Amino acid sequence: MRLTVFGTGYLGAVHAACMADIGHEVVGVDVDEEKIASLAGCRPPFYEPGFQETLVRTLDSGRLRFTTSPAAAAQFGDVHFICVGTPQRTDSFGADLRGVDAVVDALAPHLRPGGLIVGKSTVPVGTACRIARRIRTLRPAADVDVAWNPEFLREGFAVQDTLRPHRLVVGTESSRADLTMRRLYAPILRAGVPFISTDPATAELVKMAANSFLAAKISFINAMAEVCDATGADVMTLAEALGCDPRIGRRFLSPGLGFGGGCLPKDIRALTARAEELGVDQAVSFLHHVDAINTRQRLRTVDLARQLVGGSFSGRHVAVLGAAFKPNSDDVRDSPALDVAARIQRDGAQVWVHDPVAIDNAKNAQPSLEFAADVSQACHGADLVLHLTEWQQYERIDPARLAPVVRTPTVLDARNTLDLELWRSAGWTTRALGRPEAAPHGPAESRPLRSPAPSVGGLSPAGEGPDTAELVAYARSARGL
Ligand code: UDX
Repeated sequence: MRLTVFGTGYLGAVHAACMADIGHEVVGVDVDEEKIASLAGCRPPFYEPGFQETLVRTLDSGRLRFTTSPAAAAQFGDVHFICVGTPQRTDSFGADLRGVDAVVDALAPHLRPGGLIVGKSTVPVGTACRIARRIRTLRPAADVDVAWNPEFLREGFAVQDTLRPHRLVVGTESSRADLTMRRLYAPILRAGVPFISTDPATAELVKMAANSFLAAKISFINAMAEVCDATGADVMTLAEALGCDPRIGRRFLSPGLGFGGGCLPKDIRALTARAEELGVDQAVSFLHHVDAINTRQRLRTVDLARQLVGGSFSGRHVAVLGAAFKPNSDDVRDSPALDVAARIQRDGAQVWVHDPVAIDNAKNAQPSLEFAADVSQACHGADLVLHLTEWQQYERIDPARLAPVVRTPTVLDARNTLDLELWRSAGWTTRALGRPEAAPHGPAESRPLRSPAPSVGGLSPAGEGPDTAELVAYARSARGL
């Protein structure tokens, strides 16, 4: 089939490449010329494991192309996916639908009879009906269907989630559109993926409800973490025990700094805003608490960090491990890690941030922070190491080798994924959200700066940047040490 995909961000670019990979001819469209040039040149504008390979394969096959011309795209295909962003509005909790509306207006004059518009963007319930009305106004004689097919892909697993989703949901009033979508997704459906046909409103709501449920689950365990902190209980054991009950399940029950990114925070807010418009705000008022509990984790982390450096950040050096909103992504939108780093810096600390892939985006978002090329550089002379994004490589840090790099061997694990027993046995003072305080194994006194700082196991591989001695010299001069 011949498809177009409007919007080539995380969702659209991956969707376009995956649709070409299952055999369709696809044109990706975006107003951003730079993005289109990078995709057409096989250079993904974002980090997403497995995407580059799919992009290379599908561009080489000739089934995937990119353009900035909506007219050319509209003339190419009959099924048009809308994959543009729907960020939070600046003046309210509602979703900003200007991107979606702009695509509809750009497409409308060029739509061919029998065409199908398929929304994948996350939108407030009622949007598909509004779009159908708009098309009827703009093109009264055109025989065009509208369907909503929400996307559930997770960043970091986008290719896998597109090709093997847990379910495909299609909401439309048209049986012709339903059939077209079944044909379009046939290669995926053959693998046993459930196809749920419904009305547009339910399809739109499934996505908002799924993300709200996931957010509520995370905030639930984080609320329990705070209760654990007040009682000496251990939230990790609590989560394990809760997760053994199949009615609850262990996934999305990882306590820590909470959720961020371009979806969960804005989707719960958009649902509350839409519920208010519909007069059912009381029904979802618990989502305000979900949001507040989530923000609270960031403040709790800052408070605990302040306590660990002696009550004031002034003159302290804090090393932050992680900038992305989650591992396997370079996305820093509403990143809890960057938010905490920026707050601590505002409160007087010198903050050095490391992230395996998100540094460029982090620099754009928070240019006043200091950024390190590796963990050693971030931690050199640190009074506190903060673990804020649970990249697997941070779990492989050798705390015994990191200890001589820092000034005070204290670590706060705000993601609960480090082996704190190992850190303690290497002489570190350790703290984590929702876990009882444990005494270090050896004396954990502050020590003077040593030079040069040794590299940290597995984290300063050759070829990743300047060598450790250079970095240490750079770090020392940059910080006036
Ligand atoms: C989410 C949904 O999972 C996906 O289905 C939807 O299509 C888009 O929104 P994503 O934003 O990529 O995906 O991230 P997700 O994996 O859901 O994680 C969201 C945030 O929650 C991250 O900041 C993550 O660190 C945090 N999280 C997740 C926790 O704090 N605890 C957990 O147990 C799980």
